[in-house]
Amino acid sequence: MKVIILPTADDVGDQAARVIIDGISSGTLSVLGVATGSSPLPIYRALAKYTGVDLTSLTAYALDEYVGLAKTHPQSYQSVINTEVTLPLSLDPTRVHVPDGSARDIDAACAAYDAAIANSGGIDLQILGIGSDGHIGFNEPTSSFASRTRVKTLAPQTRADNARFFDSIDEVPIHCITQGLGTIMEAKQILLVALGSGKADAIAAAVEGPITSMCPASILQMHPNVTVILDSAASSGLRLTEYYDYVAANLPAWQR
Ligand code: F6R
Repeated sequence: MKVIILPTADDVGDQAARVIIDGISSGTLSVLGVATGSSPLPIYRALAKYTGVDLTSLTAYALDEYVGLAKTHPQSYQSVINTEVTLPLSLDPTRVHVPDGSARDIDAACAAYDAAIANSGGIDLQILGIGSDGHIGFNEPTSSFASRTRVKTLAPQTRADNARFFDSIDEVPIHCITQGLGTIMEAKQILLVALGSGKADAIAAAVEGPITSMCPASILQMHPNVTVILDSAASSGLRLTEYYDYVAANLPAWQR
C-alpha cells in the first residue's frame, strides 16, 4: 500500500486526478470506478480542469446506490453522479453506470451489474472513499471479503453520517445496493482518498490495523496496487507517517 499525505483536500484532489490522467494518457485506464460522497469531489473538480484530455471514451461504474429513492431524487447516486461526474467531465452518459436501486428484481439487477463490469473488461482504476466505520462502497463492518454486488443494510452510523445530504435522518434510506468487497478487489488499481479528522481512526485501522471484516477497508492490504491519498487531518491516527513521507521523498527514479 502506498500512502501519500498532503496538506489540503485540494492537494489530495490534484494528486488523485494526476494518477487518473496518467492512466488515461498511457492507455491503461478506460474503465473508471467512481465513488459518491464528499471525499472524491476534489478529484472530480481537479479532473474538470484538465483540458486536452478526452474523457468521452471513458466507461464508468459507480460503487453503490440507495434502494427506494427514485433515480430523479437529488440525493440518488444516479443524480449525484450525473451532477458531479458525468456533466462536469463531459462523459458519455450511456457509458456511465449506476446500480439500479429501483429495480423490481433487485437480486437480478445486482448480478447484472457485476456481469456488466466483467463484460467491460473489469475496472481499471477504482476511486474509493471510506466511511467513519471503515466501510468501502457500502460494505459495512462484518461484510464478507468474498461478497459480490448485493443489497446491504446501512449501519445507523452511516445513516447519521449521510443525514447531512438530506433534510432529516429519517429520509436517509436504510438499504442500498453496493459492489461487494470481492467485486472491488478485482479492480486492477485502487485509489482511496480520505479527508478530515473524522476519518483518522478508520484510516489507521484500514492501513495499519489487522485485516478484519470489522474494518472492511482493511481488505485493501491484500490488494497489490493500492494508493491511499490523505490530507493531514485524515492521517493523524497513523503511526508510520514519517516512514510514508520518507518513502515519498525517496521514490525510485522510474516511479517519479
Ligand atoms: C460512496 C461510498 C461510500 C463513501 C463513504 C465516505 O459511493 O461508497 O463508501 O465513500 O461513505 O463518504 P464521504 O466521502 O461523504 O465521507
